[in-house]
Amino acid sequence: MVMIREGLREIPEMNGLLKHVSDKQIQELSALLSSQALEASNKATKDLSKFTRGEDLSKKSLCGTCHMPQYQGQNQVPRLAGQREEYLLKTMIAMRDGKAVGRDTMMSGIMVGFSDQQISALAHFFSNR
Ligand code: HEC
Repeated sequence: MVMIREGLREIPEMNGLLKHVSDKQIQELSALLSSQALEASNKATKDLSKFTRGEDLSKKSLCGTCHMPQYQGQNQVPRLAGQREEYLLKTMIAMRDGKAVGRDTMMSGIMVGFSDQQISALAHFFSNR
């Protein structure tokens, strides 16, 4: 949120929304949001073969090293499990294509070489995890 407010992370939809929000309020918002119970967004549409392809790829690529084995995230490494599939897909493609402005460059390097199809399987796996 600090990076979005300072214009360092580009999310056009968020432009200006955090302009008058203080550091302290951002800390309070973070505490509030992170304390919410997680409701997975699209379990009903799970495709087992795609899920398994995503799971294998993630294991092979060691994604859980930083995102943790259950993909719950840690510190400043975000949770992947249960996030919206469309969001994960869009984000990973932007990272791969060098368009995720203001994000930790670590992920851009990691996503290089993944096909659209592989990224789609990863997004499906994480969101249904
Ligand atoms: C070396 C540590 C590390 C590894 C390994 C890693 N990630 Fe990440 N990942 C991060 C960090 C740090 C961020 C936060 C980047 C940011 O937004 O600044 C991140 C962010 C993400 C996001 C964005 C999540 C969000 O809520 O916006 C996705 C999706 C993601 N990683 C997927 C993967 C996948 C898939 C793999 C394996 C192919 C992987 N990561 C491996 C460190 C890692």
